[in-house]
Amino acid sequence: MAITTYLNLIGGQSLPAKSGKAFQDINPADHSDIVGEFPSSGPEDVDLAVAAAKKAFATWRLVPAPKRAEILYHAGQLLRERKEQFAQDMTREMGKVLAETRGDVQEAIDEAFYVAGEGRRLFGKTTPSELQNKFAMSVRMPLGVVGLITPWNFPMAIPSWKLFPALVAGNTCVIKPATDTPLSVYNLVNTLNDAGVPPGVLNIVCGGGGSVGNALVEHKDVRAISFTGSSEIGSHVAQRAAATFKPVSLEMGGKNAQIVLDDANLDLALDGALWGAFGTTGQRCTATSRLLLQKGIAKEFIARLVERVKALKIGNGLDESVQVGPQVNASQIETSTNYVEIARGEGAKLECGGHGLTDGAYANGTFFAPTVFSGVMPTMRIAREEVFGPVLAILEFDTFEEGIEIANSIDYGLSSALYTKDLNRAFAAIRDLEAGITYINAPTIGAEVHLPFGGVKHTGNGHREGSEALDFFTTWKAVYVDYSDKLQRAQIDNAE
Ligand code: UN1
Repeated sequence: MAITTYLNLIGGQSLPAKSGKAFQDINPADHSDIVGEFPSSGPEDVDLAVAAAKKAFATWRLVPAPKRAEILYHAGQLLRERKEQFAQDMTREMGKVLAETRGDVQEAIDEAFYVAGEGRRLFGKTTPSELQNKFAMSVRMPLGVVGLITPWNFPMAIPSWKLFPALVAGNTCVIKPATDTPLSVYNLVNTLNDAGVPPGVLNIVCGGGGSVGNALVEHKDVRAISFTGSSEIGSHVAQRAAATFKPVSLEMGGKNAQIVLDDANLDLALDGALWGAFGTTGQRCTATSRLLLQKGIAKEFIARLVERVKALKIGNGLDESVQVGPQVNASQIETSTNYVEIARGEGAKLECGGHGLTDGAYANGTFFAPTVFSGVMPTMRIAREEVFGPVLAILEFDTFEEGIEIANSIDYGLSSALYTKDLNRAFAAIRDLEAGITYINAPTIGAEVHLPFGGVKHTGNGHREGSEALDFFTTWKAVYVDYSDKLQRAQIDNAE
């Protein structure tokens, strides 16, 4: 079958990378399936895209926000019509099972309808002036051209969290999709363009972080960068952006704990741990990568969990009966393999999994057996570092306070979950867990688009997506209107 070739989308035109180079997007469940070929771009392509976005900003910023929002609403409707096709495309390019890729597209649909409402809000404030016959208010203004760098694990949802708020606020965008999952970004951007976004407002430049990402971050005409990815890369992005004083929104790693107290509904907690740890093959920044069990229930819980994990059906996500898809690429398999070695070396007990799957139907893909370690100590690397794969570390604790302390003893702080029937402890945990998100009696994954999304410590740099995204994609202007018809001097004491 001929390979479909995709080009950069710049100023409404499809353009190859100036270098002429391209890379392939390959199905991680079946390496013989080439999803498409995409341009391997460089700084010269970024220059073109930023220039196109800058030109488009001159008119897009003047389109009334409710009109911009209507386009987004229409995009939501089109996404709904295209959902099944886009889910199939996404499973092909990144591997997660169809039920989850449908959920990923659904998140983009939810975001479209939610943000469309913001077009009729975008509230500022009015406040009294110190002076007579003077009116004071604050208004939200767009930033200009914004650069968006997006990951492969939620290849449509996360771009939508950035594109929709950026657009409703009147910004124009250059987006760099993850090289593992560009097609889902094309599907999203093409849908927005079909809905009526004018040429040049949305530009895609494909390529690596070192070439396209850095060029975007350093570009003098890019006014802000929104990045989702690892803490390591996020730190580089922030340091590079500092040279031009660019605001940067960083959404990064996690090592999320599900805590189960002795009094919890264990069936519920078991379902939560299984879904939280192995949904999306563990490749979520919100994944349950630590399970903290109170000692009274630990033994039984581990036995029941391991039995369920061993029964999980691994395979090609296009098969509706499969529960866990492949990892996205060979380098992620290598990371999982390395962490298994590290955990073993540290003395953790391997309960199941711990290896890649390469036989039979697995031979053509990057599959890893769902892995559980028990006997993990809080100081071990497997308890502290993000694996971003189907590898769960189980720790045990005596008291509730000790559980919270272990949960907080790491550098990350994205999501957290507590299973208990004790209302007092639930509220104490909500107060005490150092995380941007806390779930009670629900797994660490599954955030909704209209709440703040983001974390503390090394997970983020203080910004939130979801309900608070407009705070990043707008800047404030303070406005004073003096209708006294005379010079009034603020802060100068009057004689009378
Ligand atoms: C991510 O893993 O980067 O809360 C995002 C969740 C999803 C989003 C995850 N709605 O699990």
